[in-house]
Amino acid sequence: MMSSFQPRSALDADSVKAAYRRWARVYDSVFGGISAFGRRRAVAAVNALPGKKVLEVGVGTGLALPSYNKDKRITGIDLSEDMLERARLRVLRDHLGNIDDLLEMDAEATTFEDNSFDIAVAMFVASVVPHPDLLLKELKRLVRPGGHILFVNHFLADGGVRLKMERVMARASRSLGWHPDFAMETLLPPEDRARATVTPVPPMGLFTLVTLPQNKDR
Ligand SMILES: C[S@@+](CC[C@H](N)C(=O)[O-])C[C@H]1O[C@@H](n2cnc3c(N)ncnc32)[C@H](O)[C@@H]1O
Repeated sequence: MMSSFQPRSALDADSVKAAYRRWARVYDSVFGGISAFGRRRAVAAVNALPGKKVLEVGVGTGLALPSYNKDKRITGIDLSEDMLERARLRVLRDHLGNIDDLLEMDAEATTFEDNSFDIAVAMFVASVVPHPDLLLKELKRLVRPGGHILFVNHFLADGGVRLKMERVMARASRSLGWHPDFAMETLLPPEDRARATVTPVPPMGLFTLVTLPQNKDR
């Protein structure tokens, strides 16, 4: 069932692939700068957590890959082969020895076994995937008890001019390839929201870092 917080125009997997086929070539120059702070915070949070096996969901062009501590072993997945191609080039160019795999895979239904990872991190992905509730369910399955799930994302403002702008921008979701009107409640049910650590990230609190510990007794 669709939550009442569902963005108005859900993207399906084909529109995600089509959007990121267009964005792949210019993604780093158009989005790399504005999103850098959020990405840096999320990777710093991952680096500070215990556990080595990290799943980066929606790894895109791999902008975060050079920033992980070298003792973290990274598996990246993405729906878009065009984005992944750039991530693979980055790994070669920067001689990144701690990237285990970069795989074309749907984060809502992966082929990994239960409890395969210590940490899963999704940067600017939750507002792109077709079904954020399925994404969360899948990440809970993949991260071991006592591990952590992290999201950094733009979430819908509570009110004011920003909320109005986000509602207007949402009409362009399909060509943008993400939902400007994505509410945190679309991703996190109240019980998870209550357990999560939620930290605003500059610039201007535009992005939010969410850290969700996995229950130990799952
Ligand atoms: C806004 S980009 C973010 C890329 C990267 N995380 C970053 O920080 O730059 C969103 C990425 O999520 C990917 N994506 C969207 N839906 C997905 C899904 N269901 N499974 C895996 N990747 C997905 C897109 O292909 C795209 O590369």
